[in-house]
Amino acid sequence: MDWETLEEACRTCHKCALGDTRTNCVFGTGSRTAELMFVGEAPGEQEDLSGTPFVGRAGQLLNKFLDAVDIPREKVYIANILKCRPPENRDPLPAEEEACIGYLREQVRLIRPKVIVCLGRIAAMKLIKPDFRITKEHGEWFRKGDYLMTAVYHPAYLLRDPRKKEDMLTDMKRLRAKLDEMN
Ligand code: URA
Repeated sequence: MDWETLEEACRTCHKCALGDTRTNCVFGTGSRTAELMFVGEAPGEQEDLSGTPFVGRAGQLLNKFLDAVDIPREKVYIANILKCRPPENRDPLPAEEEACIGYLREQVRLIRPKVIVCLGRIAAMKLIKPDFRITKEHGEWFRKGDYLMTAVYHPAYLLRDPRKKEDMLTDMKRLRAKLDEMN
């Protein structure tokens, strides 16, 4: 599948009920030749309204961490497990994840990033392993086929518990070092 077909399929998708309540499908943003891809959970209110991932408060905090380790946002690709906003930002339902994950898999197949970073436990449980423990395993590296994967705290979680920002900076520095080592 090519980008145009994939994006059109996503924008007109009604595989789950979130297709009825979305304002916009939040497909993904950034470089389609990125070496580094970030995957979050699902769009929030600002993302649903704008059609772009990570533009609300959590997104602004993510931008700060990207800046802190000199990773330009436009050089990475950012997407979510779910492309449509769950009502009241509740956790994605397993059936919604199943309905939607194919779009993300196609995005990964088209981009072929070297490194995939899961933002938060929901993405880590879906992409790395179902029993992923974010407090214990954030910042660890996992090799999954062609991809090197890790998970960091979700920026929305850091807004609720700012003490974890220190760990986030450590993980982001390790990510930066890994990218430097690969190039
Ligand atoms: N939280 C997410 O997981 N994704 C977004 O795009 C915004 C907030």
